[in-house]
Amino acid sequence: MNFQLTEDQLMLREMAREVAERDIAPFAADADLNQEFPRRQFEAIRDAGLLGLPFPEEVGGQGATTLDYVIVMEEISRACASTGVTFSVQTSLAGLPLFRFGNEAQRQQFLAPLNRGEKLGAYSLSEANSGTDAASLTCAARRDGDHYVVNGTKMWVTNGYHADTYIVYVTVDPALKYKGITALIIEKGTPGFTFGKKEDKLGIRGSATYELVFQDCRVPVANRLGEEGEGFKIAMWTLDGGRIGIAAQAIGIAQAALDAATRYTQERVQFGKPLSEQQAIAFTLAEMATDIEAARLLMYRAAVLKDEGEDHTQAASMAKLLASETAMRVTTQAVQLHGGYGYVREFPVERLMRDAKITEIYEGTSEVQRMVISRAELSVR
Ligand code: CAA
Repeated sequence: MNFQLTEDQLMLREMAREVAERDIAPFAADADLNQEFPRRQFEAIRDAGLLGLPFPEEVGGQGATTLDYVIVMEEISRACASTGVTFSVQTSLAGLPLFRFGNEAQRQQFLAPLNRGEKLGAYSLSEANSGTDAASLTCAARRDGDHYVVNGTKMWVTNGYHADTYIVYVTVDPALKYKGITALIIEKGTPGFTFGKKEDKLGIRGSATYELVFQDCRVPVANRLGEEGEGFKIAMWTLDGGRIGIAAQAIGIAQAALDAATRYTQERVQFGKPLSEQQAIAFTLAEMATDIEAARLLMYRAAVLKDEGEDHTQAASMAKLLASETAMRVTTQAVQLHGGYGYVREFPVERLMRDAKITEIYEGTSEVQRMVISRAELSVR
């Protein structure tokens, strides 16, 4: 077992860090304040050749690995969590199912433009009354010749409105429960597909979160991903990969909070010496650093299992659970270490604390991760 990144991985991290510090971090506070979609930041990632990392060149990708992708994802999220989730949804939630379940024509038509950064992707599973219980979704698709006619609304769609290509999970028959769920690729501009409310969020305010509305929206059967009724498994398999990316996002946010707290406590003098020279403060920094490193190792492990074609469902949930709860704890500690300065926008840590919270909620709440982890434990005992 090797705990070291290779030379190539270290170089990739260095390159991603440079891009993130130059083209992303300077705009993070404004993106948050003005709820400004990080289009320019996304283009900088594209221009640096960092899109489509885990996909082969034949589909416009970089022929790299999941581990490479999460290394980059951490650096981007360390600079701006809103840009991080935009990049993550593009790569994992939209890209992964197109690659694994798409036929050759679908890969070329829908995946290659995502990997080349010509188009933006989104994933739409949740609804107003279907979140954790994903199998209870009701957005309906009725077959009519060589089309499906889609009616219903979806919620909490990251990259909504800005995205061109949506993987939408619908049901061909709610009585079939999860066995009726079907994945459709629906393009922006398809008649009958419009956008509802834009969410006004606590954190990751630069990322766009929209409601999707379908009214007699006709989608070609050729745009079905996988088989009819296979959608739930596609959605779950996709989330297994997506959760590793969200772990990376959480670790990036936590690392940014630790960086800020380390800087601040070395500069801030109270009782005649820097805060960092007071043992209670130094020990807090030590705990923050240790927690982050533990979460990072779990995240790398999940990525490597995925790259090796091993079952990574439980490992991904463990990584996301630990990383997101670490991010929440570490960012809260960073605010505390900043005292009053931590509570105002002049310093980044209040934004990081707000951004961290969503990592405990989306792509499965911490409670969902505990369900997945415990089910796997109980099934092997
Ligand atoms: N991969 C492949 N198949 C899977 C699977 C996986 N990881 N997990 C379950 N399945 C299969 C099961 O094997 C089962 O099939 P069989 O009957 O043939 O064996 C079928 O799916 C049903 O499985 P369960 O009985 O376990 O399903 P459940 O209804 O009990 O649900 C759950 C389990 C873990 C709670 C699941 O519903 C879940 O993950 N919910 C959370 C959904 C979620 O994460 N939503 C996030 C929305 S996306 C988002 O946040 C995006 C964003 O904006 C960034």
